Amino acid sequence: MLKYVIRGGNPLHGEINISGAKNAAVAIIPAALLVDGVCRLENIPQISDVTLILRILDELGASVRVINRNTVEIDSSKVRRTCVSHELSRQFRASYYFIGALLGRFGSGQVSMPGGCNLGARPIDLHIKGFEALGAEVEVKNGYVLAKAPEDGLTGTYIYMDQSSVGATMNVMLASVFAKGTTIIENAAKEPHVVDLANFINAMGGNVMGAGTDIIKIKGVKSLVGGTYSIIPDQIEAGTYMAAVAAAGGCVRIKNIIPKHMDCITAKLLEMGVSVVEDGDDLIVSRTGPLKHTNIKTLPYPGFPTDMQSQVAVCLCLADGVSMVTEGIWENRFRYCDELKRMGAKIQVDGKVAVFEGVSKLTGAPVRAWDLRAGAAMVVAGLAAEGVTEVDHTHHVERGYEDLVTKLRNVGADIQLVEEPDDVVCHDNVG
Ligand code: EPZ
Repeated sequence: MLKYVIRGGNPLHGEINISGAKNAAVAIIPAALLVDGVCRLENIPQISDVTLILRILDELGASVRVINRNTVEIDSSKVRRTCVSHELSRQFRASYYFIGALLGRFGSGQVSMPGGCNLGARPIDLHIKGFEALGAEVEVKNGYVLAKAPEDGLTGTYIYMDQSSVGATMNVMLASVFAKGTTIIENAAKEPHVVDLANFINAMGGNVMGAGTDIIKIKGVKSLVGGTYSIIPDQIEAGTYMAAVAAAGGCVRIKNIIPKHMDCITAKLLEMGVSVVEDGDDLIVSRTGPLKHTNIKTLPYPGFPTDMQSQVAVCLCLADGVSMVTEGIWENRFRYCDELKRMGAKIQVDGKVAVFEGVSKLTGAPVRAWDLRAGAAMVVAGLAAEGVTEVDHTHHVERGYEDLVTKLRNVGADIQLVEEPDDVVCHDNVG
């Protein structure tokens, strides 16, 4: 069992370079299966979800050449298998993108039902409806999703998404790249990673229009050719470090971001009395005074992102007065609140709403990373708290943050990743 040991209380000072976006990379790497030729992907974050996806590509028969720690070349010309093993796909949610990519390129895909963070029910009915609308037959059998195109291939159509779903929007885009005619997705998700996938497909010779609005049109093309593409910077990684500065204090230049993607997070930090100054591709974030309370509701982009809810909530624990957080996407995203209460936070959770009564300080404690963003929030809390915080189940955090410990140590945080024998951990609440 690995854990982060954090001695809190150090204000953060310096620069943090933001890595490529996880939720773009986990769709764009499988999309390399659509490309006839060598596809070079740059700015790939070195995180465990990416490692798994590259293993799946290898398992399917693609040639994956690692150029350096953030660049790979993928050649899918020798891929013949269209089934992704349960052992790999069950480990993360984004394995569902292999269904769309395999169906789009080879006319069939078989992927184990995806795993991932436990945020409540995580259905894939909208993905399946989208594939079926394109003419595929989809079956869930023995734990696998099997999707098969008719003999004469998929056909473009009009698809209305009952709910704005990032995964379903991107999966239908993957499946429809070669579909005959035009596919129209209405009520499409608008997240930056949706736009990044569309830009990738277009850079390889595809025809996707409207990504970033709620109507996306995909005109079927005959093939995608090879090329080079660089993944966008990670909005949520950047936001997490902004929240860390807000909670722990100090002044940090968050480098290599797209400031527009950060507006929804910046707006809330400004309301809380944090200074955020845009400087080209960087944001300079600083906090010297007290934090002010505010209310947050998570929404699809360009609303406040659910993936930033827990990290900013740590700041609300320390803000003057009472703040309210409403979770608008997932049904079970407040489990971290019990961990924060162990550190002295005052929080009341009722269904999808949590009320935070600000306290003057948090105190270090052993806590658990329940999932990726909950784990990131524990790190933010540990940096701000008095004394030592130990965060276990760090594998969740490693799924989405490249070099977290090094990046934080470079700005003055006292954080280490240490190995602890499993039997020493006694606050695991398993069962
Ligand atoms: C993506 O998940 C992200 N994951 C999540 O980030 C993020 O929280 C979420 O989008 C919302 O922004 C990846 O990109 C890999 P959705 P996704 O489909 O695509 C319902 C993180 O921490 N829904 O947009 O799975 C669903 O229950 C992760 O990085 C259906 O009802 O989310 C939810 O209420 C965690 N049927 C809502 O739509 C479906 O078929 C939005 O889900 C699909 C979704």
